[in-house]
Amino acid sequence: MNKITIAIDGYSSTGKSTVAKQLAKALGYVYVDTGAMYRAVTLFSMQNNLISEHHFNKNELISLLDKVEVSFQFNEALGYAEVYLNGANVENTVRSLEVSQFVSQIAAVSEVRQQLVKQQQQLGKNKGVVMDGRDIGTVVFPDAELKVFMTASPDTRAERRYKELLNKGEDINYDDVLENVKSRDYLDSTREDSPLIKAHDAIEIDNSNLSLEQQFQTVFKLAKAAI
Ligand code: C5P
Repeated sequence: MNKITIAIDGYSSTGKSTVAKQLAKALGYVYVDTGAMYRAVTLFSMQNNLISEHHFNKNELISLLDKVEVSFQFNEALGYAEVYLNGANVENTVRSLEVSQFVSQIAAVSEVRQQLVKQQQQLGKNKGVVMDGRDIGTVVFPDAELKVFMTASPDTRAERRYKELLNKGEDINYDDVLENVKSRDYLDSTREDSPLIKAHDAIEIDNSNLSLEQQFQTVFKLAKAAI
């Protein structure tokens, strides 16, 4: 069967990765979570004291980028690939609210984007890939056969993310999560390099009132039609 490239972009916590993972599984495609890659570089920056609430040593991060190795390893039990930073599994650590609070600053650095985009293009070069992020349909794979742009109201998204973090045992409050969702959307949409924007040929899905199953069925039908 003909293999295609599927780009799923959209705002923070729109449930892109849940749908993308399900879709990849149903199609026998590879799933790549590009947000996890930016999160891993953020964790590296935090571990090396390059970023905090009070400072961001961007030039030092740029000079250390060749020491940052982000990779994925498929976990059979989970059914998807987990993200690794310099050989260590950081799948859970990178999802913390703390990492979320710095990630948009790191993702605005062009040198970081160049390195990760190159790697993403390599990961998807044989097609048969579902990749989610902010710039997949506009920058990473502008020729993707199917582009989906997911949206949902900020409250719906914050609520989803809040429940997810609570379930993971994080000590957080709802207002911080909502604030983070809004500030990431703002930073991601207004940055100079590869801002979050809907590709002209992307299909927009507002999933505020869709169940997970309805979302999956919607993108699965689109994928079937595009293959
Ligand atoms: O998708 P996720 O919420 O995990 O992404 C975390 C952050 O990584 C985003 O808020 C954005 O700043 C950055 N990102 C990006 N480009 C991508 C994927 C994520 O700039 N393709």
